[in-house]
Amino acid sequence: MNDFSPQIIQTEEGHDFVQQASSFLIKAIKSVASPLVALPTGSTPLGIYKEFASQYKNDAVWQDMRYIALDEYIGLPRDDERLFQNWIGRECLDFLGVEQDNRITFDSLAPDPASEVQRINEIIAAQGPIDIAVLGLGTNGHIAFNEPGSSFDSATRVIDLSDETRASNAEYWGGLDRVPTQAYTLGLKTLTDTKHIILLVTGAHKADILDKVLSGPITEDIPASILRTVPNVTVIADSPALKK
Ligand code: GLP
Repeated sequence: MNDFSPQIIQTEEGHDFVQQASSFLIKAIKSVASPLVALPTGSTPLGIYKEFASQYKNDAVWQDMRYIALDEYIGLPRDDERLFQNWIGRECLDFLGVEQDNRITFDSLAPDPASEVQRINEIIAAQGPIDIAVLGLGTNGHIAFNEPGSSFDSATRVIDLSDETRASNAEYWGGLDRVPTQAYTLGLKTLTDTKHIILLVTGAHKADILDKVLSGPITEDIPASILRTVPNVTVIADSPALKK
């Protein structure tokens, strides 16, 4: 298996991370015509989305961009605030004017999850590969919702969320009982087929896992370690996350 070293951009925490990550992302998105872009939910990118809304709101790039969801909880109604498509809408895409027709998202209430998975895989086959996948990092090494043990060959699928992931997601929604037990996720193969992957990591609580991702064994136990098997990866991380 290849072991490429990703490009690493180290920033200071807070404002410096937001500034450097936003301008890097804008440049990457603008370098592709009608790009297909995956953007993460989670707390890591929120400052970046605010920066997009204040500095880049009227940029023509948003009219041409197609957004694809990385993951989605299963079983939530269309207007539920916890749906990732609603979260990314209110934090980012709605401000920028990305049309609903240009958003590829999972139907959380699809009656047949297997058909929903097939629908998304067909869209990716027709419109992909993804040009730019911006990813966050779970404390257990997950990317999108590819939990530890996910096959490096995986495509879109339904996944049972781990206890650790549900516990960290509970912080978003005020309690573990508010976190669904299953989700859709793009697979690791789909993600590594992306032309340019940008991993965003902040905070001292991610230092251990980021160290494993960058320097430990390449293993399905640490899903994000797959990013070292492809050459086109940029890690943008603040100094607390890179302290190891
Ligand atoms: C969540 C999401 C990921 C996200 C990650 C990190 O569970 N499924 O897409 O990137 O965990 O979240 P945070 O940025 O809040 O640490």
